[in-house]
Amino acid sequence: MLQTEAHHEAAAQVRISAARLGSEQFKSAYGIKYAYLAGAMYKGIASKEVVVAMAKAGLMGYLGTGGLRLDRIESDIRSIQSQLPTDGRYGMNLLSDLSQPELEQRTVELLLRCGVRFVEAAAYMQVSPSLVRYRSKGLKRRPDGRIEAPHRVMAKISRPEVATAFMQPAPEAIIRQLVQAGHLSVEEADLSRLLPVASEICVEADSGGHTDRGVAHVLMPVMLSLRDEMMAQHGYAETIHVGAAGGIGTPEAAAAAFVMGADFILTGSINQCTVEAGTSVAVKDMLETAGPQDTAYAPAGDMFELGAKVQVFKKGIFFPARANKLYELYSRYNSLDEIDLKTRRQIEEKYFRRSFDDIWQETKSYYLDAGRGKLEELERSPKLKMALIFRWYFVHTTRLAMNGDEQQKLDYQIHCGPALGAFNRWVKGTALESWRNRHVADIAERLLNATADRLNERFAQLTGGLA
Ligand SMILES: Cc1cc2nc3c(=O)[nH]c(=O)nc-3n(C[C@H](O)[C@H](O)[C@H](O)COP(=O)(O)O)c2cc1C
Repeated sequence: MLQTEAHHEAAAQVRISAARLGSEQFKSAYGIKYAYLAGAMYKGIASKEVVVAMAKAGLMGYLGTGGLRLDRIESDIRSIQSQLPTDGRYGMNLLSDLSQPELEQRTVELLLRCGVRFVEAAAYMQVSPSLVRYRSKGLKRRPDGRIEAPHRVMAKISRPEVATAFMQPAPEAIIRQLVQAGHLSVEEADLSRLLPVASEICVEADSGGHTDRGVAHVLMPVMLSLRDEMMAQHGYAETIHVGAAGGIGTPEAAAAAFVMGADFILTGSINQCTVEAGTSVAVKDMLETAGPQDTAYAPAGDMFELGAKVQVFKKGIFFPARANKLYELYSRYNSLDEIDLKTRRQIEEKYFRRSFDDIWQETKSYYLDAGRGKLEELERSPKLKMALIFRWYFVHTTRLAMNGDEQQKLDYQIHCGPALGAFNRWVKGTALESWRNRHVADIAERLLNATADRLNERFAQLTGGLA
């Protein structure tokens, strides 16, 4: 046999396929065929349809529970469960909200009650008791000595110091507190001391929605070496898998993530512009035209006072400019009364289409209904009052977009990252140019097959055709 023929034969054997991308151990722990997850998108944009479609294709997606009431989350979980076999794969988003720890606790109780086994934990800056409770509940020592952990927590993180906390066992004080409260047995507590809080870390680089604007090429190597360090330090029986999210919309981006060492990838923006996504036709029609430059940063409504940012779609939309203007006013002034009349009129008439007073009445009644006391405190703090009135705009603009309001398209708040623009470019001229032909699981499959092709091409090129 000629030497080149032998090389070609060897090359055929090592050809990369979609199923070989990422970590084998991760795929088997999740029971999915590819190392690919569809991330949560709030208010059910990552809908039960997204979750079911992914599961039916042997993949997995997380329901966008953020901003949904608990009864709605429960009915979505029941619906998902009724459409899948008992070993069907589905996950739920669990969001940290330090202002409402009781909501996090009630959500965890719901997830435990419904037997949800996979959680995507996001917006955490520190490990919380509810999250530890979820992770530790049901821990058992098997006869072979291994620990059986029924609940997997994938923590989506963009900062190494937060990742460090999640790669360690839960803080002792939290474990004790949970045992005392009767939420964990002594055995569960003992075993939780041997496991990291997060079974997976998903490194989130600049993404659609809430973003720290991280750079994947910087963060991935740092987080991977952190993982190795923590594995050596704690000697865990199972590797903490580290995945990549943010900016993945093309085979090239996915290939880069896997070459950097990602155990899995997670996408978000590209899934919002699909048939299954739980948002309006108007939003999907707009997103289908997005290019990679058509996004902007705006304040995050739920973390307005903190100055946190979300990345949104901006083409033909005033929302980002208006939202940024509101934040600027909030930063500059201590009260609505300090805002000059012309600006006030502009906001009331153009942005809000209603008066500050009307919004205040609505906001107050929301606080009363939700049983969230502190109304007197709100009345006494003009700066807080301004924040709450401005925050109304963020709830309102999300609703306009999700309802596909025809009259107020300029105010749509659509979370989206540049990955979608890159994806749109990739599928240009194919059937997938129209979102009406885009299905979440099909996109995943195509993306990973093309990723494998690109890697085969690159390696052939880099090795002079020898690989
Ligand atoms: C419309 C939209 C809403 C999102 N909402 C949430 C959310 O509620 N919870 C969450 O953990 N991540 C949320 N994300 C982030 C995604 O789960 C995912 O991490 C991110 O989109 C990945 O980056 P990419 O947009 O560049 O693909 C959202 C993203 C988008 C585009």
